[in-house]
Amino acid sequence: MTLPASGFFAMARASLLCLPLQFLVVSLVFLCCQVPPCTPLAVETRALLEIKARLKDPRNVLESWRESGSPCDYFGVTCDQVSGEVVAISLVNQSLSGVISPSVSKLRSLASLLLASNSISGKIPRELAKCSNLNVLNLSSNQLVGSVPDLSALKSLKVLDIAVNRLSGKLPGWVGNLTGLISLGLGDNDYDEGDIPDTLGNLKNLTWLFLGRSHLKGEIPESIFELTALVTLDLSVNNISGTLSKSIAKLRNLKQIELFHNNLTGELPPELVELTALQQFDVSANNLHGELPPEIVNLKNLTVFQLYSNNFSGALPEGFGDLHHLIGFSIYRNSFSGNFPANFGRFSPLGSMDISENQFSGEFPRFLCANRVLQFLLALENNFSGGLPDSYAECKSLVRVRINQNQLSGPIPGGVWALPYAKMIDFSDNNFSGVVSSDIGNSTSLNQLLLQNNRFSGEVPSELSKLTNLEKLLLMNNSFSGNIPAEIGNLGQLGSLHLEENLLTGPIPVELGECSKLVDLNLAANALSGNIPNSLSQMSSLNSLNVSGNKLTGSIPESLAKLKLSSIDMSGNQLSGEVPSDLLRIGGTKAFLGNMGLCVDQNSRLQKNPDIKICSEKHTRRGILADKLALFSIILSALVVVLVGLLLVSYKNFKYVEADPANSVDEEKETYPKWKLASFHHVEIDADEICNLEEENLIGIGGTGKVYRVELKKSDGTVAVKQLWKADCAKLLLAEMETLGNIRHRNILKLYACLMRGGSSFLVFEYMANGNLFQALHRQVKDGRPELDWFQRYRIAVGAAKGIAYLHHDCSPPIIHRDIKSTNILLDEHYEPKIADFGVAKTIEKSHKGPNCSRIAGTHGYLAPELAYTLKVSEKTDVYSFGVVLLEIVTGRRPLEDEYGEGRDIVHWTLTHLSDRKNVLKVLDDKVASDYIEDDMIKVLKVAVLCTAKLPSLRPTMREVVSMLSDAEPCTLRYTENDADKNGRPVFC
Ligand SMILES: *[C@@H]1O[C@H](CO)[C@@H](O)[C@H](O)[C@H]1NC(C)=O
Ligand SMILES: *[C@@H]1O[C@H](CO)[C@@H](O)[C@H](O)[C@H]1NC(C)=O
Repeated sequence: MTLPASGFFAMARASLLCLPLQFLVVSLVFLCCQVPPCTPLAVETRALLEIKARLKDPRNVLESWRESGSPCDYFGVTCDQVSGEVVAISLVNQSLSGVISPSVSKLRSLASLLLASNSISGKIPRELAKCSNLNVLNLSSNQLVGSVPDLSALKSLKVLDIAVNRLSGKLPGWVGNLTGLISLGLGDNDYDEGDIPDTLGNLKNLTWLFLGRSHLKGEIPESIFELTALVTLDLSVNNISGTLSKSIAKLRNLKQIELFHNNLTGELPPELVELTALQQFDVSANNLHGELPPEIVNLKNLTVFQLYSNNFSGALPEGFGDLHHLIGFSIYRNSFSGNFPANFGRFSPLGSMDISENQFSGEFPRFLCANRVLQFLLALENNFSGGLPDSYAECKSLVRVRINQNQLSGPIPGGVWALPYAKMIDFSDNNFSGVVSSDIGNSTSLNQLLLQNNRFSGEVPSELSKLTNLEKLLLMNNSFSGNIPAEIGNLGQLGSLHLEENLLTGPIPVELGECSKLVDLNLAANALSGNIPNSLSQMSSLNSLNVSGNKLTGSIPESLAKLKLSSIDMSGNQLSGEVPSDLLRIGGTKAFLGNMGLCVDQNSRLQKNPDIKICSEKHTRRGILADKLALFSIILSALVVVLVGLLLVSYKNFKYVEADPANSVDEEKETYPKWKLASFHHVEIDADEICNLEEENLIGIGGTGKVYRVELKKSDGTVAVKQLWKADCAKLLLAEMETLGNIRHRNILKLYACLMRGGSSFLVFEYMANGNLFQALHRQVKDGRPELDWFQRYRIAVGAAKGIAYLHHDCSPPIIHRDIKSTNILLDEHYEPKIADFGVAKTIEKSHKGPNCSRIAGTHGYLAPELAYTLKVSEKTDVYSFGVVLLEIVTGRRPLEDEYGEGRDIVHWTLTHLSDRKNVLKVLDDKVASDYIEDDMIKVLKVAVLCTAKLPSLRPTMREVVSMLSDAEPCTLRYTENDADKNGRPVFC
């Protein structure tokens, strides 16, 4: 390294420049040495302004960094008192983005550079290695990329922290040469997989070592245990294997050990208990087993103790109850057993406690909240028995209480119902009895109250109505009696209400209809009486309705058909009258059995079921009449379309073409000499040309027919002609023609015309030069680059979303496409997407009328999950399919691939990769992903995940999809040329 030398020459050059001037005029000499280029301070000013120029500073914190001022007055800059040189820059958490200028190396005296917790991107400039006085370099929590330059020349470095960035390449091993280091943070970056460098053992003065989330594998090298000054050892979230060496006992100063999320095996070494300074210990999510060394309770300074998700067993040493500093304790998902230490928490400021999924038995510990600061009490899935101790009545700090799936019994102490901060109370699956006290009205933060499968009795308190944040109320399988309080209608956030299997009487309150967010309502197996209120049809989110096994009377409100239910059960009541046909279609006859007075319409019967009556003649005739009317209106509207088409044809002087047997593609044609042509757009079409289909022009075979490319001689254009399968029923043609012919939208494929004769039918579409989206996603251009970069993909996503949104929201009645998939999104020569193939599209009004073509709508891999148990399609099934298309766009993968595993699809595969950013990045198509657009791709990924939500009601509408996608616009489309650096890449994304 020649840093000092080159620095010296730089200074010398500056002086030499001045020399000739000195010989000229004395006053000039004077001037020269006063003007900026000559003084070291001027060099520093310039360097700082260059640094400022490359940073983006939305909060204007660098406003004081001006040419006129002294650097020592700049915000965040510190100068040496004697020399006046810049020694420190501290701009931590100032919302800065942009890049770090290499000019930082011109600050020769810089000892401390702190730029942590900003959004700075770009690479770490290798010129930093010239700042030979640097003691402290902290660039952590930014968005730095590229490999880490060799900074081993910075021999004075005591603190090096580049953690939490997106740095790549090898984990820098040269840090082992920086023997003066006290703090070293390299973790949470995107390094290549590799071992922990052995050379780290040289860093004898190191007190803080952070190598978490660094793709490390292999065992912990023995040399690490030579770092005797170490206070914090953090190797978490890697793939480190082997056992925890007993040599760890050599690190006597350790206060914090973080080894969670690795692959460690074996038992904890008993020598661990010699680390008496230890405060925080976390070996969760490894493969450790065995019993805890009993002396572990000698670690009197423990504040956090976590070893969840391992295979530890045996009893927990009683001495845990003697600890005085314990704040967090999490050992869930192990096999601990026996009694729980009786004094646990008695002397500790315990705030969080999770002992779930073990086999603890005996009495429930009573002192967990002795110091009144416990917020999280989780003990689910154990074998605790006896009552819940009274002491918890005073535990007002609780935020989350889950003691479900134990064998606890007796009443809940009164005060426990009144927990002002509790978001979740889960006492389910125990043997609790007694009442829910009216104090529950004080637990106003509650989101979830889960009391199911106990022996609670008494009334459902009307005070529940004060819990306006409540989303889930599960009281099923208890002995609640009395009426359902009408006030429950106040619960505007309630999504799930289960009261089944109780002893409730009285009517279903009309007010329940005011719970507009309710998705899931179950009142089954009670003794409810009266009518099913009409108001239930106001619950526009309702997906599942079960009122079976009650004593309900009266007729089933027709208005319920408005709801987009996917499951319904009204069986076992005393209902009467005709079952509305839409509800019958959703639930089948079994949903209405056991109601003596109910009958079903002869025509709408799905399957023969002797247990349900057919409605009387009068009903039936009315049904047939309605059906006839519907059929008539379909035929009428079809006729109108054809007629309008014909009118247009004659108006435009289009001719009825005499079929030429020589052009025939179909022998049937000869018996039907006349073609019928209906045209929807002003394009000159000659039936001779259209019917002259040659196999060499075949461009695709779809579900409804073959598609050919045809060059039009007359109008000098190209069209696509679809010849429908002969066997396909003509209805299909009508459907497609009717639907498409009347739509005008830039993102929906234009249908120019329709030709029919006897068994042959041809549809003439605009021609799409770039085929379909599926093909384009998997095509590559010459040098192996994908044909579609992210910007094109993004535009296609938005265009296609707009097309579908138009169908759903701007067509009257709305049109459901039912077969959205990447092969049905076509691309014109400018890659503008067009939705195609309306062969199975349905308008919502007509969807239940008349026989439909037997073909099952939709394509495997794109089918919304609710279609597995209901025939009911809604706009939300299109939204789901579009979500799958978005996933294809973001991941570059196919909806179904072997890699996803048996019966799994792209939706499942994606969901398993959303745990953290590292995993999410793996989902993105690496053929197009880059640092600049990752965030934009993730935004689109988020929309895709929303669209593919399991519950239809949770999916956004297509309008919302369009608006969310607009927010995901890639930044280069947003920024002007000025923001781009020399390579044309955006600097400030
Ligand atoms: C780092 O130290 C090793 C010896 O431990 C030496 O061989 C190597 O040259 C040093 N690297 C630098 C860049 O000083
Ligand atoms: C380590 O720390 C000690 C005591 O502070 C100091 O004397 C020694 O120089 C340091 N070692 C290095 C290599 O900087």
